[in-house]
Amino acid sequence: MNRILARARRARVRPPRRAARAALFDRAVAEFFMRLALREAAKGLGRTSPNPAVGAVLVRAGRVVARGHHARAGGPHAEVVAIRAAGARARGADLYTTLEPCDHYGKTPPCSIAVIEAGVRRVFVGSADPNPLVNGKGIARLRGAGVEVAEDVLRGECDALNAHWFKYIRERRPYVTLKAAVTLDGRIATRTGDARWVTGEAARRWVHRLRDRVDAVLVGAGTARADDPLLTTRLAGGRGRDAVRVVLDTDLRLPSRLALLNPRSPAPTLVAHASARTRRVRPGVELLRCKRGKGGVDLRDLLAKLAARGVTHLLVEGGARVHARFLEEGLVDRVAVLVAPKLAGADGVPLLAGRGPARMADALRLDEVQVERIGEDVLVIGRPVPAARPARPRARRAPARGR
Ligand SMILES: NC(=O)c1ccc[n+]([C@@H]2O[C@H](COP(=O)([O-])OP(=O)(O)OC[C@H]3O[C@@H](n4cnc5c(N)ncnc54)[C@H](OP(=O)(O)O)[C@@H]3O)[C@@H](O)[C@H]2O)c1
Repeated sequence: MNRILARARRARVRPPRRAARAALFDRAVAEFFMRLALREAAKGLGRTSPNPAVGAVLVRAGRVVARGHHARAGGPHAEVVAIRAAGARARGADLYTTLEPCDHYGKTPPCSIAVIEAGVRRVFVGSADPNPLVNGKGIARLRGAGVEVAEDVLRGECDALNAHWFKYIRERRPYVTLKAAVTLDGRIATRTGDARWVTGEAARRWVHRLRDRVDAVLVGAGTARADDPLLTTRLAGGRGRDAVRVVLDTDLRLPSRLALLNPRSPAPTLVAHASARTRRVRPGVELLRCKRGKGGVDLRDLLAKLAARGVTHLLVEGGARVHARFLEEGLVDRVAVLVAPKLAGADGVPLLAGRGPARMADALRLDEVQVERIGEDVLVIGRPVPAARPARPRARRAPARGR
């Protein structure tokens, strides 16, 4: 009797344990290959807009047989690049792709069909594609054709890689990263407006890598005048590409000698203004007329216009008034502040112009904070969250007097 019970207990307990271990193993394997696909995808950052950055790997018998990434809008999608590279080895293989395969005819035919025709056995997907033209249709077609599909593999990482593109698809505006370099006492420049340089070389290299991954870089007229920046991407060995440069110049008053208005870059400079008049500009410079808003150019209107030009990720690089307006308007998705071990004094230029809140409880807070040391500086990255105002008790109506 005891033996029978023991056997029954074993029968009930062991198989699920083995199944759970196998599931854990399968998940670890899937995540391992999805990480490779993510690495592929990252190669396209800053080069694919208005498309997302996507990576794919094809795996057979535990070995990577091909990799691919989407390199530029209009070019083949990551899955197709990998399938072409694999040739006959794609048959029976597993495909790991950071984004759901597309299912519509755009500049290229649907990836879902290419995957089916190549004879891929299983597809592992990271992010779902919110694009209304896809939105589950790619996965449905694959399953309909008998391809096994596993969804949400490293979904968090895959979503984060394309946070800018999700913002653009859902809200038709670019994702905005606000980046600044400050001293320990929160100054972005000295009292004379000198900001060269707040941080060390390693941090400045990091900024160039960031520029390399965004579609556009923006500064205000104050920074254009004070720093006369190039806003190009200077990476070792001439790598990297320049983003579109945007300068806010409400009434087109910036002096024409500025470097931004005399570009030697394949990427254009856009002068965002709100003036009824116009001015002559050099080749490579374009005037972008926007509505007039608080502080000068209406930032929401500008973002809508940049999105219409396919800008999915905008890097705001100062100065103090521009930072303040973007944050006040709630238009910043990510703040990246490089803190240098220096002190510039109370009369230096602050990170944010204007008046701050009266109470610390109302200070703008960052969440999802990451901290990293870069050379002698410290990088703090976070997502701004507006202070939650405590609900005020409703004012009781004063009792009627005199009766
Ligand atoms: N350490 C760093 O990371 C860093 C980075 C950048 C700059 N900086 C420093 O910051 C200082 C410049 O800051 P700043 O506050 O004087 O100037 P700013 O923020 O660069 O530019 C402000 C100007 O931009 C124009 N503008 C147009 N539309 C705007 C809008 N919607 N919101 C805000 N501005 C708008 C306005 O000039 P118009 O009316 O003429 O259009 C405004 O006065 C410089 O000293 C520079 O060196 C430091």
